[in-house]
Amino acid sequence: MQVIRDIETLRDWRESEGFDARRVGFVPTMGNLHAGHLALIDHAKQRAEAVIVSVFVNPLQFEDSDDLARYPRTEERDLELLEQAGVAAVFLPTEAVLYPRGQKDIVRVDAGPLGERLEGAARPGHFTGVATVVTKLFNLVRPDVAVFGEKDAQQVAVIRRLVADLDMHVELAIEPTHREPDGLAISSRNRFLDPEQRRQAPAVHRALKRAAESLAGGHTVAATLAGARHWLTQQGFVVDYLVYCDDERLEEQARLVPHGRLLVAARLGKVRLIDNLAVHTP
Ligand code: PAJ
Repeated sequence: MQVIRDIETLRDWRESEGFDARRVGFVPTMGNLHAGHLALIDHAKQRAEAVIVSVFVNPLQFEDSDDLARYPRTEERDLELLEQAGVAAVFLPTEAVLYPRGQKDIVRVDAGPLGERLEGAARPGHFTGVATVVTKLFNLVRPDVAVFGEKDAQQVAVIRRLVADLDMHVELAIEPTHREPDGLAISSRNRFLDPEQRRQAPAVHRALKRAAESLAGGHTVAATLAGARHWLTQQGFVVDYLVYCDDERLEEQARLVPHGRLLVAARLGKVRLIDNLAVHTP
């Protein structure tokens, strides 16, 4: 496994892979790798001959400096896991490598209205930060296929639009959300849950599953969402949003649509959990 820390070496590596013969798969991450990330890597290995993973905690997508400072950085262990996973290369840039002119006055990629809803409303500028860094990484890595997790459904929607609207020549592959046995979506934030909160946390997924069943059973969207929100509140959560949207634009829908999705953000103490579930209508 080649560990790459600068842009010149990355470009050399990419050239050595060739641009026609071998397919290059790419998994962008912020490190602190877990089973969800490893599933993305496995998927990339099935779709490409050489897989490269990036590990970079992108300051541009954190609007809260405490959140950025708290983000777990576990480089040594990440490198071990990546080696075991059999990736060809890992790109580990520093801030100075990716933002040599600082971040304040750089050109950014605007994520558009899609980036302002839901998570974007709670975290202004977040998706522009994501779209900008993903564009930079795509330009550097020039992957044939890039893999993202359904766990972050709005991020997936933004990146689909980024690739379509800016005519990027890259295939996208989306990996289903990996969960703990009790249903909690695996996330690096779960480590901040205390034991009591960890016991409560699977209620987020349970609420989504029940809501999906309720919709499939013919209950209205409004009644279903009100019920699920009430139940989560009773379980000790502060619900930031709990919505039913179409999968492409993530606009709230009052009636069932062919590709619908339930999305939730709920807080337990200081820990904010997000999750989502596709709703298959009969
Ligand atoms: P990060 O949170 O490290 O996630 C990297 C990738 O892993 C994302 O595509 C995310 O959706 C996926 N992922 C996280 N938890 C998952 C789970 N439980 N199951 C399946 N996939 C999961 O998302 C980012 O980093 C950043 O925004 C990034 C795209 C790297 C840009 O900075």
